Amino acid sequence: MSTTFFEKPKQRKPDANPLGLRGVDHIEFIVDNADQWRDFFRDRYGMTARFYADEKTGVKGRRAHVVGQGRINFIVAEPQGRGPEADFMRWHLDQHGCGVRDVAFRVQDARHAIDEAVRRGAKSVRALDQHEEFNGATIAAYGDTVHTFIERKPHTGFAPGYVSVPGVVEEGDIHFAMIDHVVANVERMEEWVKFYEQVFGFDLYMHFDINTGRSALMSKVVSPTDGWVKLPINEPSSKNSQIQEFLDQYNGPGVQHIALLTPDIMKTVAAMRRMGQDFLEVPDTYYDAEFDQRIGEIEEDKEELRKLKILVDRDHDGYLLQLFTKCVFARPTLFFEIIQRRGRAMGFGEGNFRALFEAIEREQARRGSL
Ligand SMILES: [Fe+2]
Repeated sequence: MSTTFFEKPKQRKPDANPLGLRGVDHIEFIVDNADQWRDFFRDRYGMTARFYADEKTGVKGRRAHVVGQGRINFIVAEPQGRGPEADFMRWHLDQHGCGVRDVAFRVQDARHAIDEAVRRGAKSVRALDQHEEFNGATIAAYGDTVHTFIERKPHTGFAPGYVSVPGVVEEGDIHFAMIDHVVANVERMEEWVKFYEQVFGFDLYMHFDINTGRSALMSKVVSPTDGWVKLPINEPSSKNSQIQEFLDQYNGPGVQHIALLTPDIMKTVAAMRRMGQDFLEVPDTYYDAEFDQRIGEIEEDKEELRKLKILVDRDHDGYLLQLFTKCVFARPTLFFEIIQRRGRAMGFGEGNFRALFEAIEREQARRGSL
């Protein structure tokens, strides 16, 4: 029902990082209401409002908040007034509903990154822009999603026209440290695996096929050699696949989910539940005897896991704990994952597709509906 293949670890290539990437700089969402989504990330995800921009602060066409925690920065931006930027954002909202426009990477040298990316076959969307805060340039990725390369200059602000939100104290019980992975749903997986291999020098890291009987998908994961971010790329392999449903609802390829890494998932999920965040429903039957057999010894208290409805999956090198939110926007497209890795667990919770499916069947059998 679910098969995972780890790719052979590759020799470190001499050009392992041809674009000079250093990490994820930020993720930009185009949304219908920037204040509402700032509040959402602040009140449910324990993030802090860090920066703000609009026409008055010197940015044309948009109102935007930057919210974040640890090394994570999300821009939530809505169109304001008229002009090419505002018109484009309205078009994006009309096409996709709220969603991710830009998965932006921090780079050593933005000019080098864009020149090299284009030489390797990427399509430039915005040529090099030079600012006091950063140099940036943008390439096209799957669907209407783009990647901006950001070369930050020391001791400057976030971006031109973005002002700091005063008096912020970063605290809370949520502890998101960084983005673990960003998942794309596309029509043709192979095309995009090749794109990240050729343009970014990423390696194919693992692949899996999942078929629960209700829904089928194929996934390949590409990652930089250092593994600081993982990009799983999904393709639907049946008409009723949840990936196909995403493609229909989002009106094309896009970001399906973003996984936020926490060092203490019990605390994170307990706090988020207290703050009113909804998660995927997990039947009690998930924690039956099958759970013990599949997972074996773990450091966490299994009773606590059951109470918080946290999922666990074991792989060759450790285990991971995870939980998925419900879809956050009006269209059933994007959701978040909260993840903690123990040992050197490398997977994405593939075993949980099957375990959840079987748990639901046991629950149905108990209710007598099977
Ligand atoms: Fe995931």
